[in-house]
Amino acid sequence: MNSIVYEDVKAIIAGLGNLVGRFNGAKVLITGYKGFLGSNFTAFFSVLNKEVLTEKADVYCMDSDIVDLDDRASEFAENFTLIRGSGVDDLPTKTFNYIIHCAGIASPTYYRKFPLETINVNAIGYWDLLNKIDHEALKGFLYFSTSEVYGDPDSKHIPTQEDYRGNVSCTGPRACYDESKRVGETISVSFAAQKNLPVKIVRPFNVYGPFMRLNDRRVIPDFVKFSMELGKIKLFSDGTPTRSFCYSSDAITGFLKALLEGQDARPYNIGNDSQEISMWGLAQQISEIMGNVEIERTISPEKNYLADNPQRRCPVIDRAKEELNYEPKVSLREGLERVIDWYKETYFSN
Ligand SMILES: NC(=O)c1ccc[n+]([C@@H]2O[C@H](COP(=O)([O-])OP(=O)(O)OC[C@H]3O[C@@H](n4cnc5c(N)ncnc54)[C@H](O)[C@@H]3O)[C@@H](O)[C@H]2O)c1
Repeated sequence: MNSIVYEDVKAIIAGLGNLVGRFNGAKVLITGYKGFLGSNFTAFFSVLNKEVLTEKADVYCMDSDIVDLDDRASEFAENFTLIRGSGVDDLPTKTFNYIIHCAGIASPTYYRKFPLETINVNAIGYWDLLNKIDHEALKGFLYFSTSEVYGDPDSKHIPTQEDYRGNVSCTGPRACYDESKRVGETISVSFAAQKNLPVKIVRPFNVYGPFMRLNDRRVIPDFVKFSMELGKIKLFSDGTPTRSFCYSSDAITGFLKALLEGQDARPYNIGNDSQEISMWGLAQQISEIMGNVEIERTISPEKNYLADNPQRRCPVIDRAKEELNYEPKVSLREGLERVIDWYKETYFSN
């Protein structure tokens, strides 16, 4: 396992403390395990089984390969049950103690290309999964919502807290993602209320880190890819939109705390509230780390690249801090240096 990934997993385990014991002997399902977050969870359980748990977790990993990109998780999932599939009927069993539902199509470039699959995995397939799994055995189900449920908030609601209801288009090019995540939250709340299921909801804010594929088309891998391949960063906006980036080891710690200790059907913003930066500022930081590469403002070849793009995004994370003892630790600079080292080693070392 790559040393950066291993150190990240150790930081997650340290951040969880005694909570990791809950996974002793547990049956765990990770959907979307080849994706960015799913790979991080797979690495976490691999180290947990080898080094921490007295009774190993029995881990099932499913992915549909819908977006046919590289797979970096299977190498350390060798003792897990790997399933190629896209829904609950593809699973060899329906009995799990914990389900981490990372399946999704998270990159705007890909969800605009696959809007129906996006709606299916976030809402319709999700409903089916919750409906058909063994309810008795379930101790925790983690649903990945998104900060996109807030859409493009007015300035009074930024930084944004969980009770803000959102300003979202139901027909725009991002609607397949935003609206299906919103209904996914409604499905979560309804299953918790009517079937008493322990469904936990997290709203991640721009998480980045190892395993986000280089050609994923999200901004950090894009800037790194441009720097490495073209020797310059292409900026597809005027550089003013902001995002608050959160390094993956911090976010995964928060997600797992929500799974193990969060209240049912109560959304938690998980992100970093102290790292808001403009796209121009981000390009400058990456340029510096990459050796002062040039930054070029240009127009994306993708027609809807900036349509309904929120101008500013920053979370209030007080609820997670108070109820989950969640505290992000990794600064943007440190996180960028770590992930750039990972990209160099993973994609450009030969
Ligand atoms: N990374 C972030 O910052 C972020 C922010 C907000 C929300 N999320 C949500 O978290 C979840 C994981 O995000 P990610 O960044 O790892 O995404 P990702 O796109 O990197 O990975 C998702 C994985 O799910 C798989 N998949 C898609 N449809 C599937 C299906 N029907 N069945 C099984 N597998 C399927 C894909 O092949 C892919 O490997 C997604 O639901 C995403 O919407 C992520």
